[in-house]
Amino acid sequence: MSTMKRTLIVGNWKMNLNTHEASLLVKRLDDQIPIHRDIEIVLAPPMLTLQPVSQQIDRRKFRLAAQNAYYRDEGAFTGEVSFTMLRDLVHYALIGHSERRIYFHETLEIVRDKVQAAVRNEIVPILCVGESKHERLAGEAKRVVHDQVTTALSNLTPEEAEQVVIAYEPVWAISTFGGSEPAKPDEIHAMIKWIRHLLKEAYGEQASEDMRVIYGASVDAEFVGDILGLDGVDGLLPGAASLNYHKFADIVEAAYRQRQSMEESDG
Ligand code: PGA
Repeated sequence: MSTMKRTLIVGNWKMNLNTHEASLLVKRLDDQIPIHRDIEIVLAPPMLTLQPVSQQIDRRKFRLAAQNAYYRDEGAFTGEVSFTMLRDLVHYALIGHSERRIYFHETLEIVRDKVQAAVRNEIVPILCVGESKHERLAGEAKRVVHDQVTTALSNLTPEEAEQVVIAYEPVWAISTFGGSEPAKPDEIHAMIKWIRHLLKEAYGEQASEDMRVIYGASVDAEFVGDILGLDGVDGLLPGAASLNYHKFADIVEAAYRQRQSMEESDG
């Protein structure tokens, strides 16, 4: 059951913080956040700071994610960094974030190839999917998410696909695209249910329950209880709030409290 999984909280720092600033943030997060056995906290700093941050973090508390990488393993691809180069540095990689799809024109096929390259290099993909405002208004949201999920996983074996984390991030609710608060709980619930349905069609009921599906877009501590209380939501992917150590620590704390209240009500 999804309630038994560790809650996954992934902080996407995007293109913010130099090495010094990153180090300060890690220090503050370390001071603020205790070890929670049932919560897995992942930091996604910019590529440049991954190495120093990896040497600084308490690995009992934090894991790392890359925000992106290139799908070829090595060669004449000036300016790129491969998943192969990251394999001993990170557990996870964000793949298909809407900023990459929109600003860097990453197609469904590029995202698919990146997912495959991550898996080939033993890095767990956090596959970001989500519709734009225009697509939602046109009644296309489910189809868009369907295409993003099924294409991205299409070159994986079922065993490989079952390791992938899927992050539902409605583009219209992301702070950098003008969102000021998360999607409504019923909107999140409906789309997460749809994603689990797609996973069930492809990999069966057990796999679809076991796979981790998380929510991102304008996540702040005040919304954590409502979102994590939804059936089928296994974690959160805050962006802007992850750069503020008070806010990020509050999100972790709220996730911890929400989990405790769920465990109490379970018996
Ligand atoms: P936000 O970003 O929390 O600032 O909306 C989330 C994301 O883009 O991953």
